[in-house]
Amino acid sequence: MSKGKLAKFADMERYENVFQYPFSVVEQVPFEMKGRWREMYFHNDNPIVLELGCGKGEYAVGLARMFPDVNFIGVDIKGARMWTGATQALAEGLKNVAFLRTNIEIIDRFFGEGEVQEIWLTFSDPQMKNVRKRLTGTAFMERYRRFLVDGGIIHVKTDSNFLFTYTTYMVEHNHLPLLFRTEDLYHAIDIDDDTRRILSIRTYYESQWIERGKDIRYMKFRLPHGGPLEESGREIPVDDYRSYRRQGRSGVEMRK
Ligand SMILES: C[S@@+](CC[C@H](N)C(=O)[O-])C[C@H]1O[C@@H](n2cnc3c(N)ncnc32)[C@H](O)[C@@H]1O
Repeated sequence: MSKGKLAKFADMERYENVFQYPFSVVEQVPFEMKGRWREMYFHNDNPIVLELGCGKGEYAVGLARMFPDVNFIGVDIKGARMWTGATQALAEGLKNVAFLRTNIEIIDRFFGEGEVQEIWLTFSDPQMKNVRKRLTGTAFMERYRRFLVDGGIIHVKTDSNFLFTYTTYMVEHNHLPLLFRTEDLYHAIDIDDDTRRILSIRTYYESQWIERGKDIRYMKFRLPHGGPLEESGREIPVDDYRSYRRQGRSGVEMRK
């Protein structure tokens, strides 16, 4: 039987790989590991990679298994989801993965300048009505620049045509170096074996969308420092299917 939310929250309180600092907490208690994750938590000099909006943390845990010499941190505001990844990481003794429960809007409060090498954005909400809430919007890019190394890599994996098209325009308009882009990941032929192995990690949301026959899109680009970033202002067709209530096979609305 799966655990209830209260039991999961109790577990999270005592998990050594979980740091819970939602906005209400970080306003009261300063986050002492900012700029010191390697020294205070990972105890190594390895690069740090974030998964923002990690949900159950499939990428954070999956990548940690594949790359023992890289440190991974899954970030999300939903503790009950994060519990799955945190529990798995502890059970497997993975020392190179941690979880931060907070609001991504304040993510720059947790990492020092140049502390992070790469960011994964996995099946982020496209936020079709509010560009300032979109995790690939220029407002977030400006925030990421505060702690990402100059030219650090951003990976975007999504089912959403809206988010993918928006991000493509944002990258083009700001002349960000595009490293790879495909609109149909599972039928693309120009992918090397290592990248294919990494991209074969499937998240919870990814599995749901694949089941419904949606194409999975992926791109990676660099985010250099310096120079203002601006919105392209181009119009983008919305994802129609997202305007309907999400229905499971049984017709029951799916939990977000
Ligand atoms: C659509 S789900 C995707 C989850 C997971 N990456 C996957 O593919 O299964 C988006 C996730 O981002 C988290 N999220 C969205 N906006 C956030 C924010 N501003 N701060 C923290 N978490 C956020 C949600 O809680 C949710 O778990």
